[in-house]
Amino acid sequence: MKVAIASDHGGINIKQELITLMKELEIEYIDLGCECESSVDYPDYAIPVAEKVANGEVDRGVLICGTGIGMSIAANKVKGVRCALVHDTFSAKATREHNNSNILAMGERVIGPGLAREIAKIWLTTEFEGGRHQNRINKITTYESE
Ligand code: RB5
Repeated sequence: MKVAIASDHGGINIKQELITLMKELEIEYIDLGCECESSVDYPDYAIPVAEKVANGEVDRGVLICGTGIGMSIAANKVKGVRCALVHDTFSAKATREHNNSNILAMGERVIGPGLAREIAKIWLTTEFEGGRHQNRINKITTYESE
């Protein structure tokens, strides 16, 4: 599995924590920024990650900003993206099993690095269940293509 990860200035510490996690899990990743602590605009990071997921260059994406909300709104504008904003471990597992979410968004001003790491670990290692859940995703895909 290959993952694209990015954050704005509000999510840079958790981004580093999750890069460490992916190294430990031996997950291949590409870091699409941001590099600095100065203020940047979250769509400039969310959309490139979402496009790489949508065009198959990577399998999954991880996006961190202050709340996770801006990143998730922007990522979900890209066709084929199912970005889940998650701040608890139950939802991390459920959104992989039920929604086959392909991008995880979190907010560094909402949760700490320990919980973010647990959520990301669950999300990166949980498989989609398919079955009835696939039918529901197909309805979203059909709507997107109309
Ligand atoms: C940046 O100040 C902040 O608005 C951003 O990180 C994010 O929380 C937006 O949704």
